Amino acid sequence: MSQMKAIIITENETIQHSLIEILEAHEIEAEVNIEWKRSFAQANYTFYFIDYKSLKMIEEFTAPASSFIIGMSSERSFDEGRAWMRAGAYDVVVYPDEQSRLNDIISSVKGKVEKQKESFGDTTFGGGQVNAFYSAKGGSGKTLMASMIAQSLQIHHDKRVILIDLSAQFGGLETVYGVKDSRSYLDLQPVMQELSLNHIENVATKDEETGNYILLGPANPAKAEETSEELITKIIRTCRAHFDHVILDLPTAINTISFAGLNEATKIHYILNPDSLSLRSYKHANALFERFQLGNRGSLSILLNRVHPKSELGQKDVSKLIGKEIDASIRSDYFALQPYLNLGDSFYKKEKDKGQFKPAKDVRSYVEKVLL
Ligand SMILES: Nc1ncnc2c1ncn2[C@@H]1O[C@H](COP(=O)(O)OP(=O)(O)OP(=O)(O)O)[C@@H](O)[C@H]1O
Ligand SMILES: [Mg+2]
Repeated sequence: MSQMKAIIITENETIQHSLIEILEAHEIEAEVNIEWKRSFAQANYTFYFIDYKSLKMIEEFTAPASSFIIGMSSERSFDEGRAWMRAGAYDVVVYPDEQSRLNDIISSVKGKVEKQKESFGDTTFGGGQVNAFYSAKGGSGKTLMASMIAQSLQIHHDKRVILIDLSAQFGGLETVYGVKDSRSYLDLQPVMQELSLNHIENVATKDEETGNYILLGPANPAKAEETSEELITKIIRTCRAHFDHVILDLPTAINTISFAGLNEATKIHYILNPDSLSLRSYKHANALFERFQLGNRGSLSILLNRVHPKSELGQKDVSKLIGKEIDASIRSDYFALQPYLNLGDSFYKKEKDKGQFKPAKDVRSYVEKVLL
């Protein structure tokens, strides 16, 4: 089992010392700080022990889903209780009166973490990258970018890659790869509790030309709506344990499926087009990402796709308007692309293939810069 970590945020030395001692007995690595730092929100602590004074200094903190906030309070007050509830605290300990409860709380959290691991796998341990392709505007190139990148990883860099079509729409991955199959990830629902690589390989299709595995969504979009967050999460985590890269083609809508995918991503690739509608959509999405702490571990990468000398906006303009650096620009080349898409042909043929047309060349460098 990988070691759990805790962060203690208080100026009170008595609390610091007694907590460190208890945590040591539980073999939990503890860090201490006298005040809150922004970076704490993004680090992977299982426990956040925070005193009330520090809590007040923290604006809009939401702990990552796999973390537990334990409030360290000096009095039983209604206002404090409410503040802890708002912060999503798992428990509040009144110090020093209730100090003895700490042992039980820590044991109970440990039990929960173990259980989560049993059903979801140990996410902090090893595992491949989860690359989610998202855009709040439809037709921006999520499916195309996701599949080109998957092919480059496999063909140029010999990585094991699985693509998961979570977007449940016609003209998705099945078209790009020319897959004629009716199996989908929904077929994994009955075996969800004991999901293994074997199950995934039975339902996914291996594309012989590229070596990519493709896991399609249900052909009937209404069915996709029945999908649970738990199923998506389990599929992603199982794939992650067995592939170098799990590539998610996400729907434009923010729903259970896209949320589960974004939440599991180690990297979110936001696909932007150089026009004002795309920028407006990006701003909405970005506000949402911030609210839900998505893509905040330095893991949001912006891809400007369909760049053309006559585009409404250039890379620099876009970067200025959204206040964020653009990680790469992918040029537009409609006519060169069509034959590949019509024939379901792979975008690269062999390791040394730099890409025969502009988007393929640009994607190849993006992979080297951002995904390796
Ligand atoms: N760089 C590019 N050059 C030329 N055509 C492109 C480029 N990027 C995407 N396209 C084309 O734009 C169309 C939309 O792309 P794609 O299907 O990948 O978008 P999407 O974001 O997945 O759309 P949806 O929201 O419908 O799922 C496709 O026909 C695709 O071939
Ligand atoms: Mg698509």
